[in-house]
Amino acid sequence: MEYRNKLVLAPMVRVGTLPFRLLAAEYGADITYGEEIIDHKLLKCERRVNDVIGSIDVVEKGTENVVFRTCHQESSRVVFQMGTSNAVRALTAAQIVCKDVAAVDINMGCPKSFSVSGGMGAALLTKPELIRDILTTLKRNLDTPITCKIRLLQSSHDTVELARRIEKTGVSAVAIHARKVADRPRDPAKWSEIADVVTALSIPVIANGDIFEHEDFERIKAATGASAVMVARGALWNASVFSPKGKRPWEVVKGEYVRKSILWDNDIKSTKHTLKEMIVHHSSLELPEGKAVIKSETLADIAYVMLIYTFLL
Ligand code: FNR
Repeated sequence: MEYRNKLVLAPMVRVGTLPFRLLAAEYGADITYGEEIIDHKLLKCERRVNDVIGSIDVVEKGTENVVFRTCHQESSRVVFQMGTSNAVRALTAAQIVCKDVAAVDINMGCPKSFSVSGGMGAALLTKPELIRDILTTLKRNLDTPITCKIRLLQSSHDTVELARRIEKTGVSAVAIHARKVADRPRDPAKWSEIADVVTALSIPVIANGDIFEHEDFERIKAATGASAVMVARGALWNASVFSPKGKRPWEVVKGEYVRKSILWDNDIKSTKHTLKEMIVHHSSLELPEGKAVIKSETLADIAYVMLIYTFLL
């Protein structure tokens, strides 16, 4: 994996499934993270080749429940993000997917209580020994590049110290969400604290936080010196943020997303959630289109809604 001058789609639960990742890549994302999947869940799964749509599926054993879907078109840029609090479990889980992805990333930033109470996500930030155990175990046993995504600690000094310890484990890159665990998404990202880490490390740093326009890519790179730039909400609201030609109208992007969701037989819950997030941001769920999306139960229902509200109007 090469991280220099790369545009990166951030991991987003319920959003970063195959159609969204392919959409972001089509507009110019070089590296695309999948949504976080917890190791416990992955351990109940097996790998299956899906000849019907040409995908590789990680499916819960004994069911048709697809937990992760990828395809060869994205194999050189898709990053599998995992939630874990245990090195052996992380390794066993990663072995199921590592041959089909470009890198495996460990989530060390999620502040949600289900993550933290299980010792995962942001809970790891205060356990450098466990971080070392997880990352070195993965590094030692897998050929796939290993990375992690962290948040800022209380002081810039603490963040730099943690990042130095992470670098020593041999990871290929570290992504930094420039907010502290207690910060809300509306609090401004502190790019200057990413710059302190970039100065201290030799491995690539991926800068994340408050990138909403294509111009912001150069601004954050200049402000931080980071190798790569990662976007979450800016991409969710309009995946063409990655395009050097400028953003496309969000309705066009929405239509393209639905088309890809149908082609790749995406999980209806993921498609609905992603569409609702787009609609809330640009319009309203109180309007007829939003209400119809909420009522949809299948991808066919969603296709019908799009036909009426996006393609015919
Ligand atoms: C996220 N974020 C996130 N982070 C992570 O490491 N794993 C995940 O699965 C998720 N899921 C997720 C879902 C949604 C809907 C959002 C908006 C965010 C955090 C995300 O990757 C990113 O770090 C922050 O959103 C900050 O970036 P932006 O939004 O300022 O570009």
